[in-house]
Amino acid sequence: MKVIIRNTYEEMSRWAAEYIIDRINAHNASPAGAIRPFVLGLPTGSSPLGVYAEFIKANREGRVSFKNVVTFNMDEYAGLPRDHEQSYWKFMHDNLFDHIDIDPENVNILNGMAEDPEAECRRYEDKITEYGGIDLFLGGSGVDGHIAFNEPFTSLNSRAGVRKLTYDTLLANARFFGGDFSKVPKTALSVGVGTVMDAAEVLLLLSGHNKARALRHLVEEPVSGKWTVSALQLHPAAIIACDEDACDELTVGTYKYFKETE
Ligand code: GLP
Repeated sequence: MKVIIRNTYEEMSRWAAEYIIDRINAHNASPAGAIRPFVLGLPTGSSPLGVYAEFIKANREGRVSFKNVVTFNMDEYAGLPRDHEQSYWKFMHDNLFDHIDIDPENVNILNGMAEDPEAECRRYEDKITEYGGIDLFLGGSGVDGHIAFNEPFTSLNSRAGVRKLTYDTLLANARFFGGDFSKVPKTALSVGVGTVMDAAEVLLLLSGHNKARALRHLVEEPVSGKWTVSALQLHPAAIIACDEDACDELTVGTYKYFKETE
């Protein structure tokens, strides 16, 4: 596991965006680029907003094209139609897809209104497999260390499925529903921890003091189902990009190690 520490959220975002842009461009310039698209996993939340802004800028500047990119989003609330203010479908279109040259057919987001949500999740996993797997999964983490909507104690081998959201997550996300806890959907469709772990590379964004405990559990503590993001310790190519505030709970030795070895 690599940990990249930058001073601020903006610097972290720029680093992560440039890393992914390099990956997309290298893929497109290679023989593989002619026969298959670059498959990119994407999260929602405030963590990736800086990266998405950098993608839009780089796309406008002609430094990257998303024409040969296929995306799979991590999760979606159950029961919210696409055009709901808080659907992840809307979030992704408002903050990224409507501003870049991606083919709308290449955008994949779990359907929160599916009649049979478990079947929808199986279809999603199958589609990822048809594309030959995810090349790079960009992710974030909840304050409680969940990845996608894989709350504490979700199997670290889990595949896409319906997840019940914890009280912690409902409280954290109430801010997007006018602070009204009762309006936050209680379940979501989500890729599994195993789905993320199958990606060739995983790049996780952690910023701010409120993510410091999750970063400590991810980097320094044993792999645990209580902090599902800690499964990334077992991933062969995981990178954590963080800012200084997120490092508040790391030991000085750990912090220095990653600063010195970068
Ligand atoms: C939600 C999403 C996660 C995301 C998390 C953190 O729970 N399902 O994928 O990582 O929020 O959000 P934020 O980046 O806003 O802290």
